[in-house]
Amino acid sequence: MKKWLFIVLAANVIFYSCTSSNITVGAGKEIDPYHFPITKNVSVKNGCVASAHPLASEVGLAILKKGGNAFDAMIATQLALAVVHPAAGNLGGGGFTVARLANDSLLSLDYREMAPLKGGRNMYIDSAGNARTDWSQNGHLSAGVPGTVAGLFAEHQYAKLPFKTLIQPAIELAEKGVVLTKREADGLNSNKDDFLQYSTKPSAYVKNTAWKEGDTLYQPELAATLKRIRDNGTKGFYEGETAKLIVEEMQRGKGIMRLEDLKGYVCKPRKPVEFDYRGYHVVSMPPSSSGGIILGEMLKMIEPYSMSSYGFQTVKSVQLMIEAERRAYADRAEHLGDPDFWNVPQNILLSDTYLKKRMSDYDSTKEGVSANVKAGNVHESDQTTHISIIDKEGNMVAVTTTLNNSYGSRTVVGGAGFLLNDEMDDFSIKPGVPNMYGAVGGDANAIQPGKRMLSSMTPTLVLKDNKPFIVVGTPGGTTITTSVFQSIVNIVDFNMDANDAVNKPKFHHQWLPDTVSVERDFNEETAKQLKDMGYKLVTLRAIGRTELIKILPDGTREAAADKRGDDSVSGY
Ligand code: DON
Repeated sequence: MKKWLFIVLAANVIFYSCTSSNITVGAGKEIDPYHFPITKNVSVKNGCVASAHPLASEVGLAILKKGGNAFDAMIATQLALAVVHPAAGNLGGGGFTVARLANDSLLSLDYREMAPLKGGRNMYIDSAGNARTDWSQNGHLSAGVPGTVAGLFAEHQYAKLPFKTLIQPAIELAEKGVVLTKREADGLNSNKDDFLQYSTKPSAYVKNTAWKEGDTLYQPELAATLKRIRDNGTKGFYEGETAKLIVEEMQRGKGIMRLEDLKGYVCKPRKPVEFDYRGYHVVSMPPSSSGGIILGEMLKMIEPYSMSSYGFQTVKSVQLMIEAERRAYADRAEHLGDPDFWNVPQNILLSDTYLKKRMSDYDSTKEGVSANVKAGNVHESDQTTHISIIDKEGNMVAVTTTLNNSYGSRTVVGGAGFLLNDEMDDFSIKPGVPNMYGAVGGDANAIQPGKRMLSSMTPTLVLKDNKPFIVVGTPGGTTITTSVFQSIVNIVDFNMDANDAVNKPKFHHQWLPDTVSVERDFNEETAKQLKDMGYKLVTLRAIGRTELIKILPDGTREAAADKRGDDSVSGY
C-alpha cells in the first residue's frame, strides 16, 4: 500500500473512532466533543453554568443533572477547561473561589500561586540594576508554584460526587480530542514560536503546519497527568511523577521551582470581603486578591451619588466612576499584598469615614489627575478564566483562575502536557515598574519566598434580602475589578438584564497610567465630553470576558456568557 494512502486510511479510522465515541458524564448523558454550539443566554429554573467554553459548560450541566451540586459542577467545569481552553483553563496556574452555600454560609478559597522558596525581592533585577520584565513574563523563571489542583480538592469537601466522577470528562476530552474554534487555532498559531522557545520538550500545542478551525487537539500527556490526580489526589500533582516532571522541566529550563515548593503548597481558606451597596450584600475575594477590597471601595465611593438619575454611561456617571476607580487603584498600589506577609488595612479601606474622605476632593466639573492623587493615609483613623454556577438548591459558586498571560509562561511541562503560569509578574518586581497590566506597587507586593503575588481577580456574589441575586466574574488583568464593578452597577443602578450587564461597553481607569480605556463601541458622545474635560482616552478591542448569572425574584436563573469570546452557558 502507498504510504500516503495508509496515512489517509489510518487518519480516517482515528477520526471515525473519535466521532463515534462521545464523552460520557454520568447516567446516559453524552457530550459530543466534536459539535458544541455556543449559547450566549439561558433562562432556566434549576441550575446553570457560564464558562469560557461550551464543552466545559456542558460538562458542568451534565454533572448538575447527575445530582451534583454547584461545587461538583465547578470542579468538573474547571477540569474540563484545563483541557478545552489551554490559553487560560489550567492545572499549572492558580485562582480563587467565592461561594455561598444554600445554608447561608459563605466561604472563600485562596489557591493563588506562591513564589518559590529560592525566589526573592531582586530576582528580576539584572546586574545593571534594570528590572527584567522579560524574565518575569516568559518561561521557567516566571512561574509561581501552582495552586489550582490544591484548590480543586479544597472545593471538593463541599461537593457530593466522588472526585473520579468529576475528573473523568476532562480525561476523556484530553484523550479523545477537542475540535478547535477559530479563536483557539489562532491563539495556538500565534504562540507557536513562544512554545518552542520556552518549553524544552515537544508538546501537543505545536505541530508542523498551522492549526485551523475544526482541527482536533489531542492531549495524551495531559490525560496521563489527570489520571495521576484521579488516582492519588493532590499527591498526584504535588508529589510523585507529576512533581518530578515539573522539577525536571525547571532544571532543563533554569527555573527555580523545586520539589519542596510543590510539596509545601497550601490552599488557604480566607474570610470573604463583605459589604453593602444600596441595600444589596456583596461577597467577594479578599487578599491575596485586591479584587474584593477595590470593588468595595469603588462601589461605596459612588453610593452617595444618584447614579440612576445620572443615566447609563452619561459623562456624569462615567466621570464619577472613573474618579472612584482612580482612587481605589492608587490604594491598591500601596496598601495591598499577601495578608500572610503584609498587614492589609482592610477595615479602614472599606470604612465609610475613609471613603468619604477619599472622595472629598472629587470635582464633577473637571478631570482628575493621578499625579495629585496618592494612596490614602490609612493610619489616620488585581489570560484568566471565570466560571459562574448556581444549582437548584441555591448554592452559588464563583471561580476565577489564571495562568496570567494567555498560555501563561508558554512553558509546557515536558511529559506532563500542561502549561505553567507566569504569575511572578504580578509581584511588584521593582518599585514603580509596571507589570504587564500596567499595575505598579511597592513593599506590600514585593517578592518574598512563599508569598502570593497580588491579584485583581474578583469572583463575586451579590445577595438581595439574603437570597441569591448575582454570580459574576471575568478575566482581564487589572480591568477585572472595574468590569465587575460596572456589571454590578449596570444591574443595581440601571436595572439591566444579565445579557446587557455583561455586553454593554466597558471602560477602565487604574490610577496609573492616567488614561481612560474604553471599548470600541463605547458611547461616542460621552467619549467626546470626557476628552473635552481633559481626560485622555485609549480604545481597547475588548475588556474582559464576563460570565454572569442573575437570579430573578421568582427564582429564574438568567445566565449570560460574554460576546467577547467563545464563552457559553448551559442550564436546565
Ligand atoms: O491575577 C491577576 O490579576 C492577573 N494575573 C489576571 C490575568 C488575566 O486576567 C489575564 N486575562 N485576560
